[in-house]
Amino acid sequence: MAIRIEAPLTIALSKGRIFKDTLPLLGQAGIEPLDDPETCRKLILETSHPAVKFVLIRATDVPTYVEWGAADLGVAGKDVLMEHGGTGLYEPLDLRIARCRMMVAGRPGADTKARRLRIATKYVNAARAYFAARGQQVEVIKLYGSMELAPLVGLSELIVDLVESGNTLKANGLVPIEHMHDISSRLIVNKAAWKMKHATVLALVEALRTAVAGSPAT
Ligand code: PRP
Repeated sequence: MAIRIEAPLTIALSKGRIFKDTLPLLGQAGIEPLDDPETCRKLILETSHPAVKFVLIRATDVPTYVEWGAADLGVAGKDVLMEHGGTGLYEPLDLRIARCRMMVAGRPGADTKARRLRIATKYVNAARAYFAARGQQVEVIKLYGSMELAPLVGLSELIVDLVESGNTLKANGLVPIEHMHDISSRLIVNKAAWKMKHATVLALVEALRTAVAGSPAT
């Protein structure tokens, strides 16, 4: 059912899986993009509602745009939000899409309690917090992708990475060792927009909540 929109809204999304999985939910709120981002290369997309536009940015930049108010709302993975760590955001809804697990992984038999452990990861904050919480000092090495390579070439003993099917670990002779967090995409809202555009933002949050409740989790 289309919602009543009384204030202009900018929604930050990242291309790929988040965009694809968020669209059916937004569609149920009566909001559909007028262009296909995979083919048009535009970074600002008009939608079926004249007051609503999408901005398309890298997944890791979504919380920044929303926190600074350049977008009123956004959709970001819990992994990205944990690394961002900002305080200028509300996270009112788990969209239950793009679900996976953040895990410690390594070679079979890797000793996770060893002294002087090196952990290679994109998720530096999450990794530090996880090992610090059990009083273990580790060296965290920041990478930007292909973490699975690190234990194979002696860069680190362990990695912290997202695991969905487990196929990437398996293909590289690694195993999941410890489950850290369940990950899914969350709706995030700029704190000022939550106050100043409350009726419109709330209507969208509630429409999405209804859409999530009626959708199979992915
Ligand atoms: C993610 C993740 C793993 C892989 C896990 O990488 O970092 O490498 O997917 O999926 P699986 O368990 O189903 O094999 P992604 O393809 O998003 O690219 P990235 O290496 O740039 O993070």
